[in-house]
Amino acid sequence: MSTFSIPVTKTTHSKLSETDFSSLVFGKSISDHMFVADYQNGAWGDFRIVPYGPMEIYPGNATLHYGQAIFEGMKAYKNEKGEVLVFRAEANAKRLNESAARMCMPQLPESIFLEALKQLLSLDRDWVPQGKGSSLYIRPFMFAMDNYLGVKASDTYRFMIFTSPVGAYYSKPVSVKVETTYTRACEGGTGEAKAAGNYAASLYPALQAQKEGYDQLLWTDGKTHSQIEESGTMNVMFKIKGTLITAPTHSGTILKGITRNSVLQLAKDWGQAVEECFLTVSELEEALKNGSLEEAFGVGTAATIAFIHKIKVNGKDYLLPEPKPEAFSKRVLSTLDGIKYGEIQDPHQWMTTI
Ligand code: COI
Repeated sequence: MSTFSIPVTKTTHSKLSETDFSSLVFGKSISDHMFVADYQNGAWGDFRIVPYGPMEIYPGNATLHYGQAIFEGMKAYKNEKGEVLVFRAEANAKRLNESAARMCMPQLPESIFLEALKQLLSLDRDWVPQGKGSSLYIRPFMFAMDNYLGVKASDTYRFMIFTSPVGAYYSKPVSVKVETTYTRACEGGTGEAKAAGNYAASLYPALQAQKEGYDQLLWTDGKTHSQIEESGTMNVMFKIKGTLITAPTHSGTILKGITRNSVLQLAKDWGQAVEECFLTVSELEEALKNGSLEEAFGVGTAATIAFIHKIKVNGKDYLLPEPKPEAFSKRVLSTLDGIKYGEIQDPHQWMTTI
């Protein structure tokens, strides 16, 4: 990786001492600094690390009107020695560029992404919480910067990274409802891109489910609403009769989750039977009825593993038993945590020490 020095303007008022690391709420506290890069005349430049704070954009900024915006979510951890470790940063840099291609946005060289991340995390290393269950959530994102109201891909862009110390995303197992009216993503759409608009479109259906008392949705395919695709903002996995089942990502409607990929890799390492196939709503209902559904869980960066304890299918609630200590989902969570906190061997070199 080529290295280059990024000019830094340090904050004169660190928020570190005002931050209560013992009760971190996801996304509430933001670390002191942010990285900024601008894309103009076909090239990325003007790299800088500055205090986190407001920025000026024109009311005619194209992102505000036509939503050309993408993001990533990733995490850094602190091991017992106080070293900062980042999980699968290259995979996030690569996926950002895949999203960028779909949204007509410029490619960001991986070397810029990784070097900016390294220098930002080195500066704000005291913001990485220590202790199981806590981490530094990292939010890289890119958005259009043209001040122009015509509908077209912007000519100018901004890429930024800021970070946030976080605790657990879900403090307890979640309840989900199979969604058969609204759609997260259709074939040919933007479902596999980490595009801001996908999340905006999911808010209304998620709110309806919350009003009914469910934490999240189990999204189904947009055409027939008969196949399970994702859960909330996460990929979803089921264990039925010993086989781990998750939706494949070739349809273009499913996010290529990095946690999803990591869970599948560990499953493969352990000789766990895996099927990447679409589970139908009827198959899910049947497995819930006959007790063959052993485990159901969301997998994503924010939550890592979100255990599902209740599923509503075709108007009926089904309760899932608490996963046993030897359950796949428990084992995979403790293994991922062990790797991330530097407690166990990292067989796939997923961690980078800053
Ligand atoms: C994830 O967990 O992967 C996410 O993208 C969650 C984020 C939208 C808060």
